[in-house]
Amino acid sequence: MDKLVVQGGRPLRGDIAVSGAKNSALPALAACLLTEETVTLERIPGVRDILTMQQLLEYTGATVTPSNGHLEVTTRGPLNPEAPYDLVKTMRASSLILGPLVARHGSARVSMPGGCAIGARPIDLHLMGLERLGAEIRQEHGYIEASASRGLTGGRIYFDKITVTGTEDLMMAATLAKGDTILENAAREPEVVDLAELLTKMGAVIEGAGTSVIRVRGVEALHGARHAIIPDRIEAGTYAIAAAITGGELVIRNCRPGHLGALIQKLWQAGVHVEELDACTMRVSATPTLRAQDMSTEEYPGFATDLQAQYMAMMTRADGISIIRETIFENRFMHVLELVRMGASIRIDGRQAIVAGSRKLTGAPVIASDLRASASLLLAAMAAEGETVIDRVYHLDRGYERIEEKLAGVGAVVERITD
Ligand code: UD1
Repeated sequence: MDKLVVQGGRPLRGDIAVSGAKNSALPALAACLLTEETVTLERIPGVRDILTMQQLLEYTGATVTPSNGHLEVTTRGPLNPEAPYDLVKTMRASSLILGPLVARHGSARVSMPGGCAIGARPIDLHLMGLERLGAEIRQEHGYIEASASRGLTGGRIYFDKITVTGTEDLMMAATLAKGDTILENAAREPEVVDLAELLTKMGAVIEGAGTSVIRVRGVEALHGARHAIIPDRIEAGTYAIAAAITGGELVIRNCRPGHLGALIQKLWQAGVHVEELDACTMRVSATPTLRAQDMSTEEYPGFATDLQAQYMAMMTRADGISIIRETIFENRFMHVLELVRMGASIRIDGRQAIVAGSRKLTGAPVIASDLRASASLLLAAMAAEGETVIDRVYHLDRGYERIEEKLAGVGAVVERITD
């Protein structure tokens, strides 16, 4: 298993560019299953979750061809509408192919996702929505079987909990259903809007993406399209925090500051200077004295749960006490004990973590437990005195493209050791 060895205490300075959003690329790839024509996707990040989705598409019969930095996906011919356990267990977002397969093929067999480090994460809302659109759902031998031999029919779906991939899955399914579908209490994340833009280019009729009510008018068939994935707001946010925690200054390019409102606000309140240079670039300059700021994760446009661990690493350096509340996932504090091993003072009380800041962090051997926890440890390691060895960095590789190379380009001393 690969490890990262980080020599800390160096302020990051310079320009750093953000890749395409993993969480936008995954549903975009799943959407390719909705048509037999070729869909070309630009700015697909080279991360492990994308490779898993590629394997999943190929398993179902799609041809995925890299071409000039883009991916071309064609799903002509008979489909094998199945997502096997071996692929699903490594990536929960595999459930995104359920809706497209049922809508286009009339049936799907997808392994049930198991638990994961950050909580139970069920997909009951995906299934409830498909049932509302007329699919029959059965669960057997660890698999979900969904069928709609006469096709799906539009309907009204209310999500009693906001779900990002659930909204995406059902929006995709509804594009080929007969009649209109209304998704209520839908997720408003930029990735949902990006998917709606791709689907619209493919011939779908969608209104309201980005609001909590999405209307989809079903069409007979979708066609090929070309689409560039939006920049990854979580990667951009991670770099913004990297500038702040190391006492440096970064110009973050190819990002959308407009997607980072909640983080930028918190950085300002903590004393970090954030300047939007244009619609795709921001400069983040550290302050000598970070101020502690409470934070609570929320669905978009609130503070992203995917930046909670990184924000907590920053708060360990701030002046004062901060209370960080996790409202989306029940078990997303796996990074806490590792940060404590590096000298942080953090106490967990149910769904909140109480961070006593102004602590000197010191390098230590630590273990990454999930994707964003790994990013948090990397940030802490870059700010710490001495050497940190981060084990199980495969979690980081699921979602960050060439991260050590990018960080080395702005002054970090990070080396990968491959066992
Ligand atoms: C997506 C993101 C992930 C992010 C999360 C929350 C992708 C590929 N992943 O994950 O990075 O952390 O949104 O912003 O886009 N829930 C149910 N039943 C369901 C579905 C969800 O109870 O059927 C619950 C979950 O357990 C969780 C909450 O709803 O507590 C939100 O989960 P959801 O928005 O679905 O997360 P994902 O879409 O899996």
